[in-house]
Amino acid sequence: MRILVLGSGGREHALAWKLAQSKGVEVFASPGNPGIARVATCLPAGGSFLSLAEEIDAALTVVGPEAPLVAGVVDEFRARGRKIVGPDAQAAQLEGSKVFAKNFFLQSNIPTAAFVTVDSPAEARRSLDGFGFPVVLKADGLAAGKGVVIAHSRAEAETALQTLTGRLVIEEFLRGQEVSFIALCDGRNVVPLAPAQDHKAVFDGDTGPNTGGMGAYCDGAILTELETREILDRVIYPTVERTRFTGFLYAGMMMTEAGPKVLEFNVRLGDPETQPLMHRMASDFVPALMAAATGSLAGVKLEWRRGPSLCVVLASGGYPGSYETGKPIHGVETAEATGATVFHAGTRTGNAGLETSGGRVLGVTAGGDDLPTAIARTYRAVEPIGFEGMHYRRDIGRKGLQSPISRGQP
Ligand code: AMP
Ligand code: GLY
Repeated sequence: MRILVLGSGGREHALAWKLAQSKGVEVFASPGNPGIARVATCLPAGGSFLSLAEEIDAALTVVGPEAPLVAGVVDEFRARGRKIVGPDAQAAQLEGSKVFAKNFFLQSNIPTAAFVTVDSPAEARRSLDGFGFPVVLKADGLAAGKGVVIAHSRAEAETALQTLTGRLVIEEFLRGQEVSFIALCDGRNVVPLAPAQDHKAVFDGDTGPNTGGMGAYCDGAILTELETREILDRVIYPTVERTRFTGFLYAGMMMTEAGPKVLEFNVRLGDPETQPLMHRMASDFVPALMAAATGSLAGVKLEWRRGPSLCVVLASGGYPGSYETGKPIHGVETAEATGATVFHAGTRTGNAGLETSGGRVLGVTAGGDDLPTAIARTYRAVEPIGFEGMHYRRDIGRKGLQSPISRGQP
């Protein structure tokens, strides 16, 4: 059976790596990257994804990034009776528009930060009077993780208003630890993946500007059973019922003193959360994906290895700001010889071998019986890897060492 994975990042490498372990499955990816090429056949992007899937007669297509989902790739596939995992364009608005998502939360009684929507900087300035500081300003549309500003003062908010244009959401700042709660859905039934925690800020201690994610770990202990139940009942099920959601519903949760609240919805797997999630998943993932695409997820369960898995992202100098590409990368094989898995994100093959081609370059991933072991193994595997300008966070997973993770505290 042929499975097509759409995308070219670390998330897609982890997904392709996992699917390639299924018996009788041949993985294709478009456009893919040099890491993905080790486990799958990479096809250049160019024409439509639908014609690509038809050309190779893919039994199933799994979409990595949000852009094709928002553009309606699932609707196109369905119209031709071709199986695909993802939401239709209408449901993808839950990620595509912050205003749409916030109004949806309000109408569905889904717990989230108090907010207002504004259409002009003048209106934004007036609305700011109703909030304390810090306050959160969010651009309405897709912004690759860069459309959110946390302003600690009126002056910072004014500065942000010079770059954030168009419709905005202004919302209350929530305190707590973040949890990425991702559920696989078939329009009615829901199979939650294990909880994960991302690290969005670029520097240690959650400081500096936000990135797409500098590292993540996946561990059953991140949420209590009660919290999992609450997120399913108050957030996931109401959404799936109202939108007939299919694919991956990713609720970015803040665990506040007043309970879990939604920060945002994504309509896809997280990156880098997928790297530790796939690393830790014990079940064959293919039957669950096939069930999600065919409305038969009822009774499907996913099993996970007992200990946590952890991923540290190695980024280009300057990221999340501007950065150079084409820097030779060394040490990947030595890192893998330690037993870790190195997922490729922004890499390409140059004249002299592997080189950088993006902001997030590699995701070094390892597991262990407990979090300290997973952390130690992952950072040991990072040591031999290098490229000019490389930087990474040294504290991925550290918040998880408090047990249980704190509620209502950063
Ligand atoms: P979003 O794209 O909405 O998830 O925002 C990106 C990141 O900004 C989140 O992962 C949080 O770290 C932070 N953030 C967003 N909204 C809030 C909020 N209301 N309170 C505190 N932090 C927030
Ligand atoms: N890691 C956050 C995201 O995928 O949006």
